[in-house]
Amino acid sequence: MKKFEDLMPPVDRIRKLTLPALSQRRMAGTSFEILNLAETVLDSLCKRGKKFDLFTEYFLTVSAQSLNAWLGVPNAYRGEHERLYSRLSPDLGKGEDSNPEDALEQLLDSFVRIASNDSIAPGLIDDLRRKQVSPTETGTICCLMVMAGLEPTANASALACLALGISDMSKVFSFSDLNVDELLRFDGPVFPGAFRWATEDTNIGGTAVFSGEMILLSLAAANRDESVFPSAKDLVPSRPNASQHLAFGAGLNRCVGAPLAKIIIQSSITVIEDFEFRKIETKWRDFALRGFVSIPAVPA
Ligand code: HEM
Repeated sequence: MKKFEDLMPPVDRIRKLTLPALSQRRMAGTSFEILNLAETVLDSLCKRGKKFDLFTEYFLTVSAQSLNAWLGVPNAYRGEHERLYSRLSPDLGKGEDSNPEDALEQLLDSFVRIASNDSIAPGLIDDLRRKQVSPTETGTICCLMVMAGLEPTANASALACLALGISDMSKVFSFSDLNVDELLRFDGPVFPGAFRWATEDTNIGGTAVFSGEMILLSLAAANRDESVFPSAKDLVPSRPNASQHLAFGAGLNRCVGAPLAKIIIQSSITVIEDFEFRKIETKWRDFALRGFVSIPAVPA
């Protein structure tokens, strides 16, 4: 089989094909399912009643299951997909021998198999089949959505949980204050930022940039720009221009999955808000994304 990167369709085609599955109407339908699914994950952790990992067993699991639901992965495949998703990143620390290339190959095969099946659940895979997209292209797009969406969303949800003071049981904001855009502005997961390459000699804010040079755009710094967001270091749920944040990037390459990510974050936080637990420690990750390796906790 060709290398994964060689199978990747052009960005504008990916956007066009995935747009209907991210429409307001579809998101409204999916949000109820995602809320239910987050409740079920938390219930099963509560029933266990002992130490659990808030990051891997709650936020990451909710993100993985939400992506499965949105893609329309049939129930019979969901457990195996969750295991493969967690092996796509060497940072997820599941203790398994996480060979990401091998996991990606298996995942692609599995998506291709699903897309070739006759009966599939409603979701992105079904949309693409109706548009006669080949199973290989469908599988490639689904893998991209998981690779680009899983970890940023789980980390954004966990960062939001910490920002809201939920984990310290020192809540200063109530659920009615929940403003996902402001939470993403305040502390987003994309780190160190987006990369671009200059196509011509130019000057940015007094610094000469030469054609071919790489530019690192710090989205986090932009989100704390005082001239755009007064009192930028404070979390202000009623901030009128919170949606101008750049946590999802901007322009042609702005995050395709932003509407879905916001629903997953909102559901994860809503469900965990009234659950009382005590964090034991927090292990931050130190590479590629701002976020976590694990957040061990016990029910209070
Ligand atoms: C809070 C969660 C998320 C954050 C903060 C985030 C952030 C970003 C950012 C900053 C970019 C642009 C990178 C650049 O300009 O170079 C991006 C691109 C992308 N994101 Fe997300 N993302 C999130 C969730 C998701 C989800 C859930 C999906 C899929 C369902 C997704 C799919 C993608 C894809 C496919 C691209 C590439 C778009 C392109 O190159 O045109 N993301 N994301």
